[in-house]
Amino acid sequence: MPLKGQKIGCLGGGAMGEALVTGLLREGLVAPADLYVSDINQERLEYLNKKLGVNITADNTAAIKAADIVILAVKPQVIIPLLKEIAPAARMSQTFISIAAGITIEQLQSCFESPIPVVRVIPNTPCLLGEGASAISAGKYACEENIKKAVAIFAAAGKVAAVPETLLDCVTGLSGSGPAYMYVIMEGFIDGAVRLGLPRDTARVLVAQTMLGAAKMVLETGEHPGKLKDMVTTPGGTTMAGLFALEEGSVRALMMKAVAAAAERSREMSIIK
Ligand SMILES: NC(=O)c1ccc[n+]([C@@H]2O[C@H](COP(=O)([O-])OP(=O)(O)OC[C@H]3O[C@@H](n4cnc5c(N)ncnc54)[C@H](OP(=O)(O)O)[C@@H]3O)[C@@H](O)[C@H]2O)c1
Repeated sequence: MPLKGQKIGCLGGGAMGEALVTGLLREGLVAPADLYVSDINQERLEYLNKKLGVNITADNTAAIKAADIVILAVKPQVIIPLLKEIAPAARMSQTFISIAAGITIEQLQSCFESPIPVVRVIPNTPCLLGEGASAISAGKYACEENIKKAVAIFAAAGKVAAVPETLLDCVTGLSGSGPAYMYVIMEGFIDGAVRLGLPRDTARVLVAQTMLGAAKMVLETGEHPGKLKDMVTTPGGTTMAGLFALEEGSVRALMMKAVAAAAERSREMSIIK
């Protein structure tokens, strides 16, 4: 129970901050009284207090002082000035977790005056529903205990994998941007069915459930997707005819190019900052 007795501060109570705090409460990992959310938007704070019963404050430093673990859930352009503002209140016994896209562990660590444990996470939007895919990387001052705490927080919002920071651009291009790829794939299949006369709403539900079911088959059986595909492909049958059409369009090469293009863009944006 890495989060037992831990007080958690969340700086930024926007979409992601709310998703992570909601996950912790839903899983019963932290009590509302042990959660502190700070934000510059008073309306947002009042909404979170009313909905989730968490402590709220407009003072980031007050949230830091109260917390053992600090989640930095503000936009990337805000995070460095914010860290400089709160750095004097940071303690080496705390764990700082950043979800800001493109801000490196080195950039985060350099804002502090002492060696503060920092963990960087790339989550994705389905965290909002507890079905996120997050990858985490630890800074040089973070120990096993810090990492376990970060994993526990993101496991409450979906699945988590630990990777070296050098692979976080790849993760951004895979699961970070991934929901958009899946929406485009679903849209294509929906249009394909509508073209043949299926009502759009029926097609939408069937396609989304098919994607969900296939994802569960991969996760729950632990089988290679190729093997699962072979299991539903009768020689000379309908699925093979559909798969051949996809292969004629080089579907797998396109997907590999999409991950590479998004990863490269993530790397460029990180350098630009
Ligand atoms: N949303 C996603 O799917 C997603 C996915 C992966 C990673 N991320 C990362 O998650 C982080 C948060 O994204 P988000 O979508 O949750 O953003 P968001 O909804 O805009 O939430 C950020 C919140 O922080 C507040 N804020 C701004 N400056 C602040 C300050 N100095 N101190 C305290 N609070 C401040 C904002 O208030 P105002 O609105 O008034 O400015 C807003 O309420 C970003 O770094 C993003 O890169 C998001």
